[in-house]
Amino acid sequence: MKKLASFLFAILASMYLETKSFYFILLPLGAVATPIASRGSYAPPLFLCETIQLTDETLSRAALSIQNKTISDLFSFGPSFKNLSDAQKLPHSCKLLPGDALWPSDTVWKTFNDLLEGSLIQPEPLAAACYPEWSDYNVETCATITAQWMNSDLHMIDPTSIMSPLYEGRSCMPLGYIYTGSCLQGAYPTYVVNASTVAQIQLAVNFARNSNIRLVVKNTGHDFNGKASGKGALSIWTHWLKDKAYYPSFQAANGYNGPAIKVGAGIQVFEAYEFAKDLGVTVVGGEAITVGLAGGYTAGGGHSPLSSLYGMAADQVLALEVVLADGSFVTATASENPDVYWMLRGGGGSTIGVVVSMTVRAYPKLPTTTVTFNFTIDDTAGPDAFWGAVQAYIDNIETFVDAGTYGYYYLGASAVEVGTDYAGNTDYYFRMESFVAPNMTVTETRELLAPWFNVLDELNVTYNPCHDVWVVAFPQEYVGTDATKFGSRLIPRNVFQDEELRRELFIAHENAIDNGLYILGFQVSGKGIAIEPPTDNAVLPAWRNALAHILVGIEWNPASSWEVVYNSSLYVTDWMDLLRDIAPNSGAYMSEADLLEPNLQEAFYGTNYPRLYELKQRYDPTGLFFALTAVGAEDWEIQVTDPLPNSWNNNGRLCHV
Ligand SMILES: Cc1cc2nc3c(=O)[nH]c(=O)nc-3n(C[C@H](O)[C@H](O)[C@H](O)COP(=O)(O)OP(=O)(O)OC[C@H]3O[C@@H](n4cnc5c(N)ncnc54)[C@H](O)[C@@H]3O)c2cc1C
Ligand SMILES: *[C@@H]1O[C@H](CO)[C@@H](O)[C@H](O)[C@H]1NC(C)=O
Ligand SMILES: *[C@@H]1O[C@H](CO)[C@@H](O)[C@H](O)[C@H]1NC(C)=O
Ligand SMILES: *[C@@H]1O[C@H](CO)[C@@H](O)[C@H](O)[C@H]1NC(C)=O
Ligand SMILES: *[C@@H]1O[C@H](CO)[C@@H](O)[C@H](O)[C@H]1NC(C)=O
Ligand SMILES: *[C@@H]1O[C@H](CO)[C@@H](O)[C@H](O)[C@H]1NC(C)=O
Ligand SMILES: *[C@@H]1O[C@H](CO)[C@@H](O)[C@H](O)[C@H]1NC(C)=O
Ligand SMILES: *[C@@H]1O[C@H](CO)[C@@H](O)[C@H](O)[C@H]1NC(C)=O
Repeated sequence: MKKLASFLFAILASMYLETKSFYFILLPLGAVATPIASRGSYAPPLFLCETIQLTDETLSRAALSIQNKTISDLFSFGPSFKNLSDAQKLPHSCKLLPGDALWPSDTVWKTFNDLLEGSLIQPEPLAAACYPEWSDYNVETCATITAQWMNSDLHMIDPTSIMSPLYEGRSCMPLGYIYTGSCLQGAYPTYVVNASTVAQIQLAVNFARNSNIRLVVKNTGHDFNGKASGKGALSIWTHWLKDKAYYPSFQAANGYNGPAIKVGAGIQVFEAYEFAKDLGVTVVGGEAITVGLAGGYTAGGGHSPLSSLYGMAADQVLALEVVLADGSFVTATASENPDVYWMLRGGGGSTIGVVVSMTVRAYPKLPTTTVTFNFTIDDTAGPDAFWGAVQAYIDNIETFVDAGTYGYYYLGASAVEVGTDYAGNTDYYFRMESFVAPNMTVTETRELLAPWFNVLDELNVTYNPCHDVWVVAFPQEYVGTDATKFGSRLIPRNVFQDEELRRELFIAHENAIDNGLYILGFQVSGKGIAIEPPTDNAVLPAWRNALAHILVGIEWNPASSWEVVYNSSLYVTDWMDLLRDIAPNSGAYMSEADLLEPNLQEAFYGTNYPRLYELKQRYDPTGLFFALTAVGAEDWEIQVTDPLPNSWNNNGRLCHV
């Protein structure tokens, strides 16, 4: 294995040399690489795309060629603010929008594109294909887009589309999902850097910061609160950073020594799973396979079918490569830039830098059993039996999680995946999307489930469980709707141990469905029973006590006015008081939560918030990075044009408050 590693190193080194001379000869404006050999021993070698970096020297050469200091200064590095009190003196103002007097001229954008070697794009909204006034108008494309709109693949390969268009301002929906019947740019970013090198990311960061333009980072666009959108923004699109590498015995700065996988920021969960599987190992990734592994998922904590066993995704990270807000490119490990390393494991996406790659622990592949089944009220003797079956599940969750398993369930008043037909429908429906039992045989899984299944049998519920070995049994989830909104709560162990609280949790389930809401619930621990979880990261502490993560959704007609959206949103936010009262000292998982959550900072970040906020000021003193609900977002407002209070979506000018 050692031989192979040195062979790979030789190839990488020769590629680096070729790259360097290539850029020197052909592209005087292009970036130069730094030698791989200068790297510390606790981070794996740089990917080729990471060796192409922006330096002071490149910038000087670019300035000579541009011959206009006003323009070339727009690409220079920012001052490093290691001194917080200096940083706090910086002025903040509103970010520019296209059309503003100070918005960069076409000449400036062209120079930027030249420096990027042509990777700047100016995309129209995805659904513009359905509107004759846009140049992307095309009847066939429109039909395809409309048919595929609820499929995540469509949005993840588009430079600006996001999967929760409500938070973009629902400005350009395809036919059949129409609210306004028109298509506007809305909060889809104005320009996108289709990133394939570190130098391009550094240029984008410097240019946005020096030009006072809103900056967005888009990976897949999965974020529940549309955090990868922003009106008038320059977006850094990380989707094509698809490198990956395997290290069978990696020595990390935090003491870990074992197999590890390094992934580029654009690698998605399914790609990481496939790569790992071929190597006979596995990684901690999400249940939805199109989510990005190294972007918002891990930054936000990241729960996984393996979390009850191994902890959160953020617990797996050994090293990060990051472009910070000042444009510098740094390695972050337990010993190098430890503050950055701490914050970017749980503190959320889009806070102080762009993660370019991530190195995570890999685990031996384990035999795993999955179980799926469903039952409706028609499969039971009536409402009492139906609810008895649900209650028996809640009664057993503690045992299930403590065995290292994970379960993802849907509960509603209709079999329709997203939401209920209408409030008050009693067509009750329960579906175990998948019960995952890592390291357990079918027999062991049956034994574990027996206390619950015995109750189902006693209640004469027909449920037909299907046991599979080594099948990842998750359906593709529907995305793309602007007609639903969630609240969520992490439910701690004490609720499951206290008979009265556990009963209240069950009654809350019943209450939600009877009031026209629906539930996506997870039995999952953020702690992991098989490892000593590292607690030196920014994961919301409430995750460590949680045995369940429960999302409660509301749905409205897509043609609804903003007033209906407003009322429905407030309804679910208020309804969540039931769960907040049951678990008052817990919190909510930031990546799958309500952006109207009361005491949001406390709920999403807990006791970590003061430190996160301080690091935000230190590493991003001008507020270059912004996303709804992200650390420091409370210092900004979005002046939305819709008749909703500020900051409900990304469709408006971003101003410091
Ligand atoms: C269908 C579906 C299923 C899901 N399943 C799970 C699950 O099983 N477990 C779970 O924990 N979560 C799950 N999620 C939630 C998911 O983890 C979050 O939506 C997460 O934010 C997605 O990250 P992304 O990078 O793929 O998406 P994006 O929407 O592209 O990015 C999310 C946020 O991270 C920022 N960001 C992205 N990349 C970078 C980067 N390289 N550097 C800095 N900031 C970056 C973006 O700016 C944005 O603020 C699911 C979401 C959906 C829609
Ligand atoms: C340099 O660029 C700025 C910004 O585009 C422009 O206003 C100025 O006229 C340019 N200067 C010269 C000498 O061309
Ligand atoms: C930080 O700035 C303050 C005020 O400008 C100054 O008094 C202090 O010495 C600085 N500290 C460091 C470590 O540079
Ligand atoms: C983005 O860049 C990748 C190569 O890194 C290329 O394959 C893709 O076509 C580009 N996409 C767009 C929309 O320019
Ligand atoms: C419910 O489970 C049965 C198998 O027992 C399956 O045929 C059916 O499609 C499932 N229904 C839904 C809506 O998932
Ligand atoms: C898997 O199960 C085996 C046998 O019960 C046990 O020895 C091993 O520690 C388990 N592995 C994990 C990661 O829990
Ligand atoms: C279940 O069915 C059996 C036999 O049909 C019946 O005796 C029993 O009362 C039923 N139990 C419930 C809870 O409906
Ligand atoms: C929204 O709620 C307000 C206050 O409860 C009410 O007056 C209004 O009629 C509601 N609007 C809609 C469209 O439901």
